[in-house]
Amino acid sequence: MKLIVATDLNFGIGKDNDLPWSFAKDMQYFKSLTTQNPNTIVLMGRKTYESIPNKFKPLPDRLNVVISTQNLELKSFIPLKEFNGDFTKPYFINNLSQLQDFVSENLNFDIFCIGGKSLYEFCFQQNYITEVFHTLIDSKFDCDTHIQPFLDNLNLLSQKKIWDTNRNDNNDYQLIFKHFKLN
Ligand SMILES: NC(=O)c1ccc[n+]([C@@H]2O[C@H](COP(=O)([O-])OP(=O)(O)OC[C@H]3O[C@@H](n4cnc5c(N)ncnc54)[C@H](OP(=O)(O)O)[C@@H]3O)[C@@H](O)[C@H]2O)c1
Repeated sequence: MKLIVATDLNFGIGKDNDLPWSFAKDMQYFKSLTTQNPNTIVLMGRKTYESIPNKFKPLPDRLNVVISTQNLELKSFIPLKEFNGDFTKPYFINNLSQLQDFVSENLNFDIFCIGGKSLYEFCFQQNYITEVFHTLIDSKFDCDTHIQPFLDNLNLLSQKKIWDTNRNDNNDYQLIFKHFKLN
């Protein structure tokens, strides 16, 4: 499973169940990575799914899988085991072994863990992660959610620096797209 995350210099990732910034080039990077393979699962925590504006979800051209301890069928999500090729609906699982069952029967799927904090940390601690795509924003933002700095000890494969405008404050920031592989 691959992990994709954007952080500031303090490993801040969120504020008020939203992103603390809005970078068009980073969103484009996220989209291109997660749509490269037409069979891609974007796995996310329930709160991250709720944070996506209704008009953008389910994220198009990807299989949206939400993890929750609740029965999300009550909220019109479909159990992942009932997937029948329809990418336009959101699916749910209650634990990661349900995802493992699915991918063992559907071998061609790529999985990206797209957050938030609790899911990143769970997947990382359970050794599910094989690659990390980390956008490091070279600045400090007002955040109420931070991830453990687990990205520090990984094997860096490549990095690319760009400038992007934050649509929340109209200032320009340097972003570093870092790609890591785990040993
Ligand atoms: N900067 C970034 O790249 C990025 C990316 C994504 C999100 N974010 C930010 O991260 C913040 C949200 O993070 P968060 O930690 O509060 O929420 P989250 O991880 O998105 O969702 C947490 C919920 O997901 C479910 N869940 C997570 N792990 C589970 C597991 N192992 N088994 C079963 N259910 C599990 C639980 O749902 P139930 O309570 O329903 O059981 C849990 O309450 C927001 O501010 C968001 O904007 C940032």
